[in-house]
Amino acid sequence: MCGIIGYTGVRPAAPLLLEGLGRLAYRGYDSAGIAVLADGGRIVRCRAEGKLARLLEKCQGGAEIPGTAGIGHTRWATHGAPLEHNAHPHLDGGGRVAVVHNGIIENWRELRRELAGEGYTFSSETDTEVIVHLLARAVAAGRTPAEALRDTVGRLRGTYALGVIFACEPEVLYGVRRESPLLVGRGDGEMFLASDIPAILPYTRLVWEPPTDTIVRLTPRGVTLPFPGDAPAFREVTWDAAAAERGGYASFMEKEIHEIPQVVAHTATEGEALLPPSLAGNVTGVTFIGCGSAYHVGLAGAYFGEKLTGVPVRVFVASEFRYHPVPLAPRELVVAVSQSGETADTLAALREAKRRGAYVLSVVNVVGSTIARESDRVFYTQAGPEIAVATTKAFCAQLVAVYRLFAEIATAKRGRAVGAEVLSGLAKVPDAVRRVLDGREGIRRMAHRIAQAESAFFIGRGADYPACLEGSLKLKEISYLHAEAYPAGELKHGTISLVTAGVPVIALATQSALVGKTLSGVEEVHARGAEVYLITDETLTADAPTAARFVLPHIHEMLMPLPAAVAFELLALEVAAERELDPDMPRNLAKSVTVE
Ligand code: F6R
Repeated sequence: MCGIIGYTGVRPAAPLLLEGLGRLAYRGYDSAGIAVLADGGRIVRCRAEGKLARLLEKCQGGAEIPGTAGIGHTRWATHGAPLEHNAHPHLDGGGRVAVVHNGIIENWRELRRELAGEGYTFSSETDTEVIVHLLARAVAAGRTPAEALRDTVGRLRGTYALGVIFACEPEVLYGVRRESPLLVGRGDGEMFLASDIPAILPYTRLVWEPPTDTIVRLTPRGVTLPFPGDAPAFREVTWDAAAAERGGYASFMEKEIHEIPQVVAHTATEGEALLPPSLAGNVTGVTFIGCGSAYHVGLAGAYFGEKLTGVPVRVFVASEFRYHPVPLAPRELVVAVSQSGETADTLAALREAKRRGAYVLSVVNVVGSTIARESDRVFYTQAGPEIAVATTKAFCAQLVAVYRLFAEIATAKRGRAVGAEVLSGLAKVPDAVRRVLDGREGIRRMAHRIAQAESAFFIGRGADYPACLEGSLKLKEISYLHAEAYPAGELKHGTISLVTAGVPVIALATQSALVGKTLSGVEEVHARGAEVYLITDETLTADAPTAARFVLPHIHEMLMPLPAAVAFELLALEVAAERELDPDMPRNLAKSVTVE
């Protein structure tokens, strides 16, 4: 996610802002910049794409930029590629206003049309730039900076945290937020603005988060509210810098799992259609390509998509697809799924599909990544940067995107009601995930026992099977416990020879038509001494001999892999904790696999 820092005080602002940006880098970014209120009512700006080292080099560590107030930003692209002209701060043509922004302005297109119609010229593809021109227009019309900011945020729909400086007000920094985090920090003769605590922790531990839509005005002497609002209530931060980066969670993985309700709500409703409607109605088949968890997304999508649309769906591990010349039917849609957008095998498979004339849609998290650029169409999951190596929130966002894709195809082929049912099902997912998170204690108890084992098996049928594959992958990669996932009917065809007394078998049974079948598998392993952990849907009766159970909230049956995946993510996290392992950095793994 993007990061904001702002400063007004007595020290040279530029080096301090650059240092603060360094402490925000953990959040992930693809460009960065600063703007400082220099002498003589000028705003001096410096931006660079790529790593902060490039920004530091470009503005010579800030030493040459005079001024004791300014704003800085690390950008993680959402609107517009990660290039310098899209980096923040954004400046109006006259150099009167500079803005940094986190969040998404939903009505930016209509605002941009309005401003362009009045002759304002845009120098970026961002949603943010409309804010700059709205502010400049208001100031030019005689508004004070505070009034200009109030009028401007009144026009914005969406989420934002803003840091703003005006050339006409030396020493002054404005901030305002809606939904996105923004903090005010109080020092001795200096004040700070930041999207998160680590950015300012070396300078102050006194912070206050203004309520939503409260405009704050900072000078070196303190904070004032230009319009009526609650008096600032500063609190002392007791976390150390590392814990603050993780938002108080023990690991990034834990933090990212807790972001899932918000992320899935966003992916379910935001962004454009995955396919143009003309294309959605003409799709004759869907082929997924992806690696690891992204491959599991395709598998879960296949169970769901075929049932919903009647269109045949195939799923390939990308590294296999690239050397396996499967025939592609005319108008078959190829979907490349990738969090990073840089996975070498997925990219090669995409190129191979395109070489064979396929239309490729990619479902990608990182804006401007190679897979996104090389696809015919891209849907961004917008899950925010994922820091932990094992994917959690991005996996869930990918799954939601794939459900949306099939809802679109179903709408085009079978009518609006079919797609609408999926979308109303998706609306229930955030709450269901919250309830899974609330039930963590039950999962912890399971993990305590499972962590003692040397290997474990996951079983499930239908849509439960891909969720089991994901659960087993998660457990393997962060807890180093050997795990395998099987369709529940398949275990007896060989692998049951490994099921002996005390071996944990985690059975997922959420599909009403198949629950009895999965429970037969449970009986088989129980008869051989396995310890069975049953994860089921609250509305299903599942009579079976178990060591422990975990009940998932009921949502649309085909969407159950989502809460199930979250339960499995927590399970893996808890087993890793029992084994005293760092879940964020599993051995031998990289976040982005850019080699074959
Ligand atoms: C598992 C995991 C990996 C990735 C895989 C694909 O937790 O993170 O299996 O899913 O390496 O990565 P992307 O989605 O970046 O192509």
